[in-house]
Amino acid sequence: MRIGILGAGNMATALGAGWRAAGHDVMASGRSGSLADAGRFGPVVLLAVPATAAVEVLAHIAPDTVVIDCTNAVTPGFGVEHPYAAITAARPDLRVVKAFNLCHDSVWRQPSRVFGGRPLAVPMCGPASAKEVVAPLVTDLGCTPLDAGGPERAALLESTAAFAIGLWFAGADAQAILQPTHTDSGDSLLTR
Ligand SMILES: NC(=O)c1ccc[n+]([C@@H]2O[C@H](COP(=O)([O-])OP(=O)(O)OC[C@H]3O[C@@H](n4cnc5c(N)ncnc54)[C@H](OP(=O)(O)O)[C@@H]3O)[C@@H](O)[C@H]2O)c1
Repeated sequence: MRIGILGAGNMATALGAGWRAAGHDVMASGRSGSLADAGRFGPVVLLAVPATAAVEVLAHIAPDTVVIDCTNAVTPGFGVEHPYAAITAARPDLRVVKAFNLCHDSVWRQPSRVFGGRPLAVPMCGPASAKEVVAPLVTDLGCTPLDAGGPERAALLESTAAFAIGLWFAGADAQAILQPTHTDSGDSLLTR
């Protein structure tokens, strides 16, 4: 598949290399390259710019493109803003999937994404038709695609990133905060 990438920094090079290794044709561009060529390169575009630039670069993306949004907008004190909402409001014709925003770029540079015997899971929030396109790109990186809901849940993924990053910066083992599996139906965790 032809994959365009807006951005040529850490995430662009890490994910781009992984997809190239899986046989995809990847074109990435930073500010000194041709963002318009990358934005119209293929049916999928990875948005890998700072969240502050995300809306601005959307003009380079062809209509109806499936966009993978890996941006995070973590504010001082590890609060969060929500770039996905701004992106989809600015370009409602795009089919935007929030994904790849939880892990550091170094993860995608490693030869394997199996940790403790478990393949890394990549949650995706967005329209179903777009998640169908993105899921094989997750699999191609040796990870498990996880359908984490529709566009309305993307903000939760953004908040999850900010929360985890805050824990990591505090020196905590963020992965250790979740139980390994459901112990019951989960009803007791829900607010009624
Ligand atoms: N790094 C991570 O571990 C990580 C993990 C998860 C999510 N993210 C998110 O992924 C996104 C990219 O992060 P990154 O670490 O790859 O950043 P980065 O290394 O700083 O790269 C950012 C890229 O965006 C380009 N850019 C900046 N401002 C631009 C503008 N106004 N117009 C067009 N292009 C612009 C830069 O262009 P130049 O090449 O010209 O400088 C650069 O290529 C961010 O939203 C970040 O929150 C990062």
